[in-house]
Amino acid sequence: MKRNAMTRREFLQTTGAAAISLAFAGLPSAAFAATAGTEKVKIGIIGSGRVGGTVGGVWAKAGHEVMFSSLDLEADKKLAASVGANARAGTPREAAQFGDVLLISVPYAALPSVGKDLGDLLKGKIVIDTSNPIVARDGDMAVAAREKGAGLSSQEYLPGARIVRAFNAIGYSRMGEASKNAGKVGMPMAGDDQKAIEVASQLVREVGYEPVLVGPLATMGKHLIPGTPLGGEHTPAEIRQIAGTLK
Ligand SMILES: NC(=O)c1ccc[n+]([C@@H]2O[C@H](COP(=O)([O-])OP(=O)(O)OC[C@H]3O[C@@H](n4cnc5c(N)ncnc54)[C@H](OP(=O)(O)O)[C@@H]3O)[C@@H](O)[C@H]2O)c1
Repeated sequence: MKRNAMTRREFLQTTGAAAISLAFAGLPSAAFAATAGTEKVKIGIIGSGRVGGTVGGVWAKAGHEVMFSSLDLEADKKLAASVGANARAGTPREAAQFGDVLLISVPYAALPSVGKDLGDLLKGKIVIDTSNPIVARDGDMAVAAREKGAGLSSQEYLPGARIVRAFNAIGYSRMGEASKNAGKVGMPMAGDDQKAIEVASQLVREVGYEPVLVGPLATMGKHLIPGTPLGGEHTPAEIRQIAGTLK
């Protein structure tokens, strides 16, 4: 992997490790930006609507390489052009190939076809899943997903992916502004894979939220949908307190 002139080790020795996130270490696309003292990674956005477009834009502006995708390539090209440097557009398959990390942010009824279309490209991939089963929008499959729990349900639709549920129950319009009060609002997250949780936590932090792991997909993923006690904005301490009351 090509790095900037100063190696990671040299940079750590000269600046100290505390200021630097190494969450992305080990990902194929991780690149070390010595001048900024941060690491960058390639992110594929599957579903570049309100959430995917907003969060992907924040990550691109933070220096990550982002590929937007949806069912409308022309719209994604315009979105990428408006975001500017670090942003590009592609098909969902191209975005899944491009990203070492994927943000999947589609209406829940589209999740089964996303899983089928992307197939093997999801195997072992770190996936941040914002998608919520909303009965009024997604119909009967959302009823079933809510009964099973969104964490388990997403895992079934996206087999082999290392899923972290996040960005599920905060309005998208707040996501582009969160960095103005960085760390004040917590982001409840559920996941099973330690590395995926680390990577997602760092990316959540870069959007301006303090990541709070509330537990595994099976038991806690079901609470990460709108309308539950964890829905809406809470401080990190409040999230921990609420999560402690949930089963
Ligand atoms: N809106 C919020 O404030 C909010 C907050 C938290 C979580 N969520 C959840 O996050 C998910 C996305 O919400 P949103 O508000 O961003 O929705 P949205 O604005 O409707 O965007 C959905 C995106 O998914 C794309 N898409 C649909 N089917 C697809 C497929 N088969 N393959 C690839 N892309 C596909 C759409 O593409 P086209 O436009 O080309 O159809 C669109 O870009 C939902 O499940 C929602 O419940 C929403």
